[in-house]
Amino acid sequence: YVAEIDANDTEKGLYPHYMLKEIDEQPAVMRTLIQEYVTPTGESTIPVEIVSEMAESDRIYVVGCGTSWHAGLVGKKMLEELTQIPVEVHLASEMGYDMPILSKKPFFIFLTQSGETADSRQVLVKINEMKLPSLTITNVKGSTLSREATHTLLLHAGPEIAVASTKAYTSQISVMLFLAKALGEKLGQEKAKGLDIVHELGIVAAAMESLVDDKDHYSELSQSFLNETRNAFYIGRGLDYAVSLEGALKLKEISYIQAEGFAAGELKHGTIALIEKGTPVVALISNKEMGSHTRGNIKEVESRGAKSLVIALEGLEKETDAIVLPHVHELVTPLVTVIPLQLLAYYASLQRDLDVDKPRNLAKSVTVE
Ligand code: G6P
Repeated sequence: YVAEIDANDTEKGLYPHYMLKEIDEQPAVMRTLIQEYVTPTGESTIPVEIVSEMAESDRIYVVGCGTSWHAGLVGKKMLEELTQIPVEVHLASEMGYDMPILSKKPFFIFLTQSGETADSRQVLVKINEMKLPSLTITNVKGSTLSREATHTLLLHAGPEIAVASTKAYTSQISVMLFLAKALGEKLGQEKAKGLDIVHELGIVAAAMESLVDDKDHYSELSQSFLNETRNAFYIGRGLDYAVSLEGALKLKEISYIQAEGFAAGELKHGTIALIEKGTPVVALISNKEMGSHTRGNIKEVESRGAKSLVIALEGLEKETDAIVLPHVHELVTPLVTVIPLQLLAYYASLQRDLDVDKPRNLAKSVTVE
């Protein structure tokens, strides 16, 4: 068993960096995933063994590192919403040495682009010793975590070369959505039955396309908003909070700007002390109810001198918002809210003349614990 990579897919072509190519590929990856995970007559292609085994579990444990862990935070929401099975998301590097009390019938999902991450693997080794069922969701067929787990689902994102993960994040979220829908249907959940996933992801792909086609806008925004700053904050609630963590990680990884993602409502309990005149705060608003509270948090930081950059979903925007995203289904907003954050990070790195694809101190695949 060897990992398969098509050499044609690893060419940068006319792109200056792999990261930009991979950001651009996301709409196409969405369409590939629809073809891979749904038949022309609308049936799920996820093997019944996986769905049946998961349907018996009383709790799902999602395990990952870095961007994959962030995708897990989004996946939790989708799985819980569509299946009503409780989900816990764990950092692999913590879980391996600090195993939580497991439920009676646990099921494990390993999220790993490379399928080789040592921190994740050591958790899998432990749960294999306990003879517990698992699923690896990975981009690399035949990778270690794929071989060692009970089941595998592939990301079909094509090789991801840039160290900062982009298309693997959005494909992980999408594969978890296909899985949540199939499992929810199996469990007779109305919400799962009612979700037209092909339709919703088709809208997402078009939305992504409109965003990646507007690169100059993000280059300018990055220049004016992140130029010369040493730190930046990302805030949001619910799914927007999960994406804030990923947006901050993207910026840290490739621009070396100290960035943190925060739950918008938690700011006032400590972090707001860091806000000074000119501190950049990126705020995400993709949910009506939570968004109105986040608006309040934006006011709080602005009144302390922060400069804000608000990214809002169409229908929830205000005139002063920097970015208005096309409207998509509430469960899939991370697939579009993350795109501006990827582009902002890319341009911040570029404008600082840094090595976008190979940032210092980082590796694409970390095979040590
Ligand atoms: C490394 C990479 C990150 C990635 C993480 C998990 O630290 O630099 O971009 O998110 O590993 O990788 P995996 O292959 O398990 O998804």
